Amino acid sequence: MTERTLSIIKPDAVSKGLAGRILGEIEQSGLRIVALRMLRLDRRQAEGFYAVHQERPFFRDLVEFMCSGPAIVAVLEGEKAIERYRALMGATDPAKADEGTLRKKYAANVQNNAVHGSDGPDTARSEVAYFFSAVDIVA
Ligand code: CMP
Repeated sequence: MTERTLSIIKPDAVSKGLAGRILGEIEQSGLRIVALRMLRLDRRQAEGFYAVHQERPFFRDLVEFMCSGPAIVAVLEGEKAIERYRALMGATDPAKADEGTLRKKYAANVQNNAVHGSDGPDTARSEVAYFFSAVDIVA
């Protein structure tokens, strides 16, 4: 089943010059990049994107971090893309991530964790639509 998922290369990874390497690893994994954009999130956009976490103690710091510099948002497509990208990223906390995963290699801590990926089909649909219109996504 072909799926789409949203990827964010977060401000920590972009500022460290890791974006090209991460995009390369995504391509090497066989996932196709079908939309791509660099942007700097404003507070409202970051709060909206992470609204599900608004009651969490880390919410305020997370929003600040996500607005701290440019990020790269992308739509990835492929068989079981959601699950495959989550496996490529590794656990949210890099200390718990498997060897070889993006977060193990490139993330500093549980907040500044280099990358985001959608966690299921419904989230993927809404997260892709949060940043991209249908016309932005190549067939
Ligand atoms: P992400 O996969 O983008 O989803 C929610 C984000 O919240 C997560 O990555 C981290 O950046 C952040 N996050 C999750 N858990 C914690 C935590 N315990 N402390 C700080 N930030 C967290």
